[in-house]
Amino acid sequence: MDGPTLVTGATGTLGRPLVDRLLAEGTAVRVMSRRPRRADDDRPYAWAVCDLASGEGLRAAVEGAATIVHCATNARNDVATTRRLVDAARRAGGPHLVYISIVGVDRVPFFYYEAKLAAERLVEESGLPWTILRATQFHDLVATMTLAQRRLPVALVPAGLRFQPVEVTEVAGRLAELARDAPAGRVPDMGGPEVRDARDLAASALRAAGRRRRIVPVRLPGKAYRAYRAGGHLAPGRTVGTVTFEEYLERRAKAGRL
Ligand SMILES: NC(=O)c1ccc[n+]([C@@H]2O[C@H](COP(=O)([O-])OP(=O)(O)OC[C@H]3O[C@@H](n4cnc5c(N)ncnc54)[C@H](OP(=O)(O)O)[C@@H]3O)[C@@H](O)[C@H]2O)c1
Repeated sequence: MDGPTLVTGATGTLGRPLVDRLLAEGTAVRVMSRRPRRADDDRPYAWAVCDLASGEGLRAAVEGAATIVHCATNARNDVATTRRLVDAARRAGGPHLVYISIVGVDRVPFFYYEAKLAAERLVEESGLPWTILRATQFHDLVATMTLAQRRLPVALVPAGLRFQPVEVTEVAGRLAELARDAPAGRVPDMGGPEVRDARDLAASALRAAGRRRRIVPVRLPGKAYRAYRAGGHLAPGRTVGTVTFEEYLERRAKAGRL
């Protein structure tokens, strides 16, 4: 099928570098967003205003797309929005649907992960040609967990948790490759280069931001947290990303974004 690659969630943390990568490779890109295109945006992509929650604009957004990379997410309705996208894609002739999911969605009983797992099932059973990549947490998310606590005199971290953060531009690169390739089903997970203690990561983020705070580990109740503590969200055998958390922080600091 000829036609552009539609990127849902194209304005998000992952979508932005993905669009950059696709454009750099010469792929025709159609961006999906709920917002209208800014008047000063002259980048070489098409823009489709669409709200996956209501379905408004969806038919035009998917029309003629050869591939759809589904990065849009919203904690409240990922299953319904993915179902709507799948139905529209089927009616539009069956493009290749590439879905980004999270390592451990089948191991950690956290409501957001349960929705991602249900969305994976929808993609797998859609009848469309499909590819699913699961990634670990992006560096941005792990850094934000600490740096967003601006007003607290201490930095709270989840006790006993480890993370394996991955550089989002590397995930975007892998997705671009998957979007270009033939549908591959569920591909091997993508994790960052290091598994590190949450406390240690928080200390690095605070240091990079020049903030002095006492780090206070907090033990949370519940089965989701237990599964996180057991490392259900980690992929230690899949240290595919190469950019470390320290390198990410250094780049952000240099760009004045800490
Ligand atoms: N963050 C992580 O650490 C991580 C790790 C592994 C996998 N993932 C997965 O990667 C994907 C992208 O995550 P992200 O961190 O880049 O998300 P994000 O920054 O929160 O971006 C979410 C995007 O979804 C779009 N969106 C939300 N509701 C929508 C709706 N009703 N209709 C159309 N578009 C809608 C938003 O676009 P507009 O506001 O422009 O409409 C926005 O571009 C998600 O599926 C997430 O589960 C994330």
